[in-house]
Amino acid sequence: MVSRFFWGALVALTLTSAANAGNLADYKRPLFIPFEGVAAYSPQLATLGKMLFFDPRLSGAKNMTCATCHNPSFGFEAPVETPVGAANTRLGRQAPTVLNAAWVSPNFWDGRAKSLEEQASGPMTAPVEMNGKLDVIVADLKTIPDYTAWFEQIFPGKGVTAENLMIAIATYERTVVSSWSPFDRWVDGDENAVSAEVKRGFDVFTGKAGCSACHSGWNFTDNQFHDIGLPDDDIGRGALEKSNPKAMFAFKTPGLRNTLYRGPYMHDGSMKTMDEVIAHYESGGLGRPSQSDLMFPYSLTEGERKDLIAFLGSLTAEKQDIPLPTLPN
Ligand code: HEC
Ligand code: HEC
Repeated sequence: MVSRFFWGALVALTLTSAANAGNLADYKRPLFIPFEGVAAYSPQLATLGKMLFFDPRLSGAKNMTCATCHNPSFGFEAPVETPVGAANTRLGRQAPTVLNAAWVSPNFWDGRAKSLEEQASGPMTAPVEMNGKLDVIVADLKTIPDYTAWFEQIFPGKGVTAENLMIAIATYERTVVSSWSPFDRWVDGDENAVSAEVKRGFDVFTGKAGCSACHSGWNFTDNQFHDIGLPDDDIGRGALEKSNPKAMFAFKTPGLRNTLYRGPYMHDGSMKTMDEVIAHYESGGLGRPSQSDLMFPYSLTEGERKDLIAFLGSLTAEKQDIPLPTLPN
C-alpha cells in the first residue's frame, strides 16, 4: 500500500535561475504529501474527514461547519476581517487558510497547537466558535448508522471516538493542496509559463524587498514567528514564549499560495489589498524592540510594485472546484 498522493510528473530540471536573485529550485513543488508520523493515509479516511469538515452536526446548534470560516470558495478562509462565531461575536483573529496545511506546523497564528489533530478540537468546543461538546458530538454521530459503520471499518474495534474524529479531519485537511500554478511551471523549466513582469517580480521578492527571508520554500512560509511591526496589541506568540522578547507581537508567517484570493490579510485582517501589504513592508514596520531584524524600510519604484504583485499572482493555482460531500442521515 502506498500511503501517499502523487502530485505531478517527475521532470528533469534544467536550472534556469542563475540570473535571478533567488534560486527557483528552492520553490519546487513536492511530489508527495507528508502524511508521515500520523495515521496512515487512506482515501476512506480522507473522505470521512471531508464529510466531517462539512458537517454542521459538529457544532452546538448544528448550524456551523469548519467550512463556515474555512470556505473553499474563498481559498479556505472567510472573506471578512475576523469571522463571527456561535456567540454572534467577532473572533479575535482572522481565519487562516487550510490550503497546504500538510506543510504548516505548528498550527494557529501563534502556533499553540502542535498538529492538525490537536488543532481540530479547539474550534468545535470553543463557545465563541462552534460551541459544541465533544461527548455530545460523539454520541450524536454514533446515532447515524453510516458514520458508525465507516468509523468502525477505518478504526476497527474503536469506532467513533473524539480522537478518531480529529484524525479523520486532519487527514482530509492534509489533502487540501493548492494545484499547479504558472509559477510552478516556470520552476519546472517552462520559460514561457510566466511573463517578464513575473520574473522581475520574483527578483524583487527574493532580492530588494527581502520577502523570501520569511516567505520561503514551495508554500512560501518558514513556519516561524515574527513581529512584522503591525499596530495591533495582540501579543501573539508572546503568550507562549514569555521569556523570549522576540516572540512578543509575533505571528506565524502565512503561506502565499493563492494569496490574491485570500484577503483580507494579516492575523487581524487589517489589510484589504496587496497594495496596503506592500506599503506596510516598505515602511519597515512600527519598529518596537520585538520587531524582526529581517524587517527594514526601503522604497520600491511603481514598476517594482507592479512586478511584485504580478509575481504573487503567478502563485494562483488553476481553478480547483471542491465538490460538497453528501452527508449520511
Ligand atoms: C467561527 C469561525 C471558525 C470555525 C467554525 C472554524 N475555524 Fe478554524 N480557525 C478560525 C480562526 C479565527 C483561526 C485562527 C485562530 C488563531 O490562530 O488564534 C482558525 C485556525 C484554524 C487552523 C490553523 C491554521 C494554521 O495556519 O495553523 C486550522 C487548521 C483550522 N482552523 C481548522 C478548522 C477546523 C478543522 C474546523 C472545524 C472543526 C474549524 N477550523 C472551524 C476560525 C474558525
Ligand atoms: C520578517 C519576516 C517577513 C518578511 C521579511 C515578510 N513577511 Fe510577509 N508575513 C510575515 C508574517 C509573520 C506575517 C503575518 C503577520 C501578522 O499577521 O501579524 C506576514 C503576512 C504576510 C501577508 C498576509 C498573508 C495572509 O494570508 O494574511 C502577505 C500577503 C505577505 N506577508 C507578503 C509579504 C511580502 C510581499 C513581503 C515582501 C515585500 C513580505 N511578506 C515580507 C513575515 C514576513
